[in-house]
Amino acid sequence: MLEFRRVVKHYAIGNEVVHAVDGVSLDVGAGELVALYGPSGSGKSTLLGIAAAILAPDSGEVCVNGRDITRLSSRAAADYRMRELGFIAQSIELLEGASVVTNAALKLYGMGMRVGPANRRVAMMLEAVGLGHRLKHRPHELSMGERQRVMIVRALSTEPRIVLADEPTGALDSERTVEVLELLRSVTSERGIATLLVTHDPQAVAYADRQYTLRDGALAEGAQPAVPARTAP
Ligand SMILES: Nc1ncnc2c1ncn2[C@@H]1O[C@H](COP(=O)(O)OP(=O)(O)O)[C@@H](O)[C@H]1O
Ligand SMILES: [Mg+2]
Repeated sequence: MLEFRRVVKHYAIGNEVVHAVDGVSLDVGAGELVALYGPSGSGKSTLLGIAAAILAPDSGEVCVNGRDITRLSSRAAADYRMRELGFIAQSIELLEGASVVTNAALKLYGMGMRVGPANRRVAMMLEAVGLGHRLKHRPHELSMGERQRVMIVRALSTEPRIVLADEPTGALDSERTVEVLELLRSVTSERGIATLLVTHDPQAVAYADRQYTLRDGALAEGAQPAVPARTAP
């Protein structure tokens, strides 16, 4: 469903070259939650930006249902993000003056759905994630975990086939982290979504079908984040 093929992205800063993403190949199948664990600066956000067709790689491909999305026109890229992708950003991006329902429905409005049907759809989804009693509330009245769930409902509202989550639990305590991870885990399986979760939180990795470690832009398959790399004898 989502396939990275030898994806490379380097940045030149002065005389120095940063190997942000350095030959990453990995697949995420339908219904699968894949975790990419890596420390800050290991290339996680760059990789997700490429998969979201926000950044162009220097070389390599990212195929979504067999179509390379790295060479789309900017209009086609915007369309891909709107129709096929659910992007859960690390930062909470909610409009303070708007209700929870409106915030959750913004992507559907952007797709041209009318307010009534859009609000009804997200209200059902908000209820399903335990926010039924918060529909008319403003973002500042919610806990961080609740706000992150609104962001997730917004990302899922368009029924994307691919979900990219950039440290979605970075700002949460461990109880809220579990709630958000369980939500991602269940929607991924129930709806057959291909979900790629990048994180530096070892707790998140436990919810994944498969996990990889990213270090300096390159993958180490199956490496456990808690286990230090073996040193040669
Ligand atoms: N626009 C950019 N220009 C130059 N260097 C960048 C840019 N974006 C990211 N980098 C560098 O690429 C590396 C990977 O960054 P990033 O993908 O944000 O990592 P992570 O999300 O894992 O923290 C870092 O060394 C970062 O400084
Ligand atoms: Mg990042």
